[in-house]
Amino acid sequence: MKAIRIHAHGGPEALRYEDVPVPVPGAGQALIRIEAAGVNFIDIYHRTGLYPVQFPYTLGQEAAGVVTALGPGVSGVAVGDLVAYTAVPGAYAEFAAVPADRLVPVPVGVTARQAAAVLLQGVTAQYLATSTYPLGAGQTCLVHAAAGGVGLLLCQIAKHLGARVIGTVSNEAKAALARGAGADDVILYTQQDFEVEVKRLTGGAGVRVVYDSVGKTTFDKSLNCLTRRGMLVLFGQSSGPVPPFDPQTLNQKGSLYLTRPTLAHYVATREELLARAGQVLGWVADGSLSVHIGREYRLAEAAEAQRALAGRETTGKVLLVP
Ligand SMILES: NC(=O)c1ccc[n+]([C@@H]2O[C@H](COP(=O)([O-])OP(=O)(O)OC[C@H]3O[C@@H](n4cnc5c(N)ncnc54)[C@H](OP(=O)(O)O)[C@@H]3O)[C@@H](O)[C@H]2O)c1
Repeated sequence: MKAIRIHAHGGPEALRYEDVPVPVPGAGQALIRIEAAGVNFIDIYHRTGLYPVQFPYTLGQEAAGVVTALGPGVSGVAVGDLVAYTAVPGAYAEFAAVPADRLVPVPVGVTARQAAAVLLQGVTAQYLATSTYPLGAGQTCLVHAAAGGVGLLLCQIAKHLGARVIGTVSNEAKAALARGAGADDVILYTQQDFEVEVKRLTGGAGVRVVYDSVGKTTFDKSLNCLTRRGMLVLFGQSSGPVPPFDPQTLNQKGSLYLTRPTLAHYVATREELLARAGQVLGWVADGSLSVHIGREYRLAEAAEAQRALAGRETTGKVLLVP
């Protein structure tokens, strides 16, 4: 089979499209024929070494496909099932052997592409809006990169929960997408000072929560956008990692909360994985969550897909199709 592997950390040119043996599912594993794989920033961090890995390493943390074989001791999943998974390496490939207890059934009415597009970013948006800072009516949140993969899903889920959403984006085309996903107000943070705009839009009060995936370039002003005892949810670093931070700042700016959550800790048990993924896929199935697949690439074009994502060119989800 074909797979995209790296043998050293580096730029997009480090990605190699190689022939490797089809994996044999071990105890507790299922073999998946991948129909679509998600491209995510974590794949770029594995490539560059921000998150180090062992070589050779098959990239990719998210896919959907059909079960074609089962290893010993697997129950609850059958050959022919359409399933999706995330947080298991090796998705940039034609086949992957995946622990069966990490597989999520894809409900009727949801395609493999939609499932691959929504699992990692959709479950992230779900846990951010329902658990990290549970949103509700009467609350206002700020969502950075609101036309991105997580961003478009988070805007929709936040609206669904009754919150007012202010989004930031870099251009007008992205602003239109964010509005379409339910953002009440959109700030072009490449042209406007988003701190000033957030204060203006909230009558000086600020927001209860900022969901910040951009990191380095937004972090300081994100803190300034919060109400007293508000929460900064820093969940990514698309513009680069945030430098070391003095906790005393939280006191000075209004007894603020800062958290740096990650998906793995919100889907650590099978029960939690199924509950969160089931809710997200259920929303897709009943039409209450729309999945915007901005671009699709062939598996062999993975380097180009990563370049586009890192280069701020994409909206919504980027998929690889073997
Ligand atoms: N903690 C978790 O559980 C978790 C889970 C999923 C993702 N994440 C993180 O969340 C972040 C967003 O992930 P995503 O897949 O949804 O990506 P994305 O938002 O679709 O893409 C990144 C977006 O960030 C914005 N951006 C601002 N400054 C940038 C810069 N200097 N370089 C590149 N992009 C910049 C761009 O939107 P504009 O052009 O509108 O500015 C860009 O489109 C990533 O850091 C990812 O690692 C974390």
